[in-house]
Amino acid sequence: MKILFIGDVVGSPGRDMVKEYLPKLKEKYRPHFTIINGENSAGGRGITEKIYRQFLEQGAQAITLGNHAWDNREIFEFIDEAKYLVRPANFPDGTPGKGIIFVKMNEYELAIINLQGRTFMNPIDCPFKMADELVAQARERTPFIFVDFHAEVTSEKQALGWYLDGKVSAVIGTHTHVQTADHRILPGGTAYLTDVGMTGPYDGILGMDREAVLKRFLTSLPVRFEVPTKGRNQLSAVAIELDSKTGLAKHIETILINEDHPLYM
Ligand SMILES: [Fe+2]
Ligand SMILES: [Fe+2]
Repeated sequence: MKILFIGDVVGSPGRDMVKEYLPKLKEKYRPHFTIINGENSAGGRGITEKIYRQFLEQGAQAITLGNHAWDNREIFEFIDEAKYLVRPANFPDGTPGKGIIFVKMNEYELAIINLQGRTFMNPIDCPFKMADELVAQARERTPFIFVDFHAEVTSEKQALGWYLDGKVSAVIGTHTHVQTADHRILPGGTAYLTDVGMTGPYDGILGMDREAVLKRFLTSLPVRFEVPTKGRNQLSAVAIELDSKTGLAKHIETILINEDHPLYM
């Protein structure tokens, strides 16, 4: 059983890359499930219903979010009906939306869990305790469990990877927007990657216009970051293959597409 996961899609440059490359990636990797992190897909901040639907039409089965989940207030109008949208499960009780969803494809049912870290991020509930609860719930239904861990620091991400090793199919990090080179299968059989990376502007800084980011670093003045609409783009993703009986990982492969790393079919 195969999963393709595309990392943090940033604004229209990121959406353009999904449109151009998702069909090619599907052809190459033949995933049963495609998951997209869409927390930055609307102008770098949040997601809209139109973009959510567009991702589904392009063949995604689930859209995960993160700390930018609420940046575009349109989300409050459609999140209750958005069956395939997953926001961090450890947001406080009473937050709209779901932190776990189940999606069926052929004979497979995949649980998709979104969790958010706490180190150098807004204080929220414990992702480890929430993982215990949701993984137990998921395992009653299926051995195929995908976790998008949206967190800032590598240590917290590695910690959750080891914590869930052997209990879930994959723990894949998002949020830092830079793909890490530490993809592996942990001894218990869980596929792990600290960060899948960002899909959007290649020559910006974390997907934002670099002049504005530089100005903030150089002057400490408040500067509004925007997604550059011209220039070169990139796509970051990961392909995972799972044992069709146990749900444990057999193979994990990172995907980085830009002018320096073309996609070989
Ligand atoms: Fe992001
Ligand atoms: Fe984020």
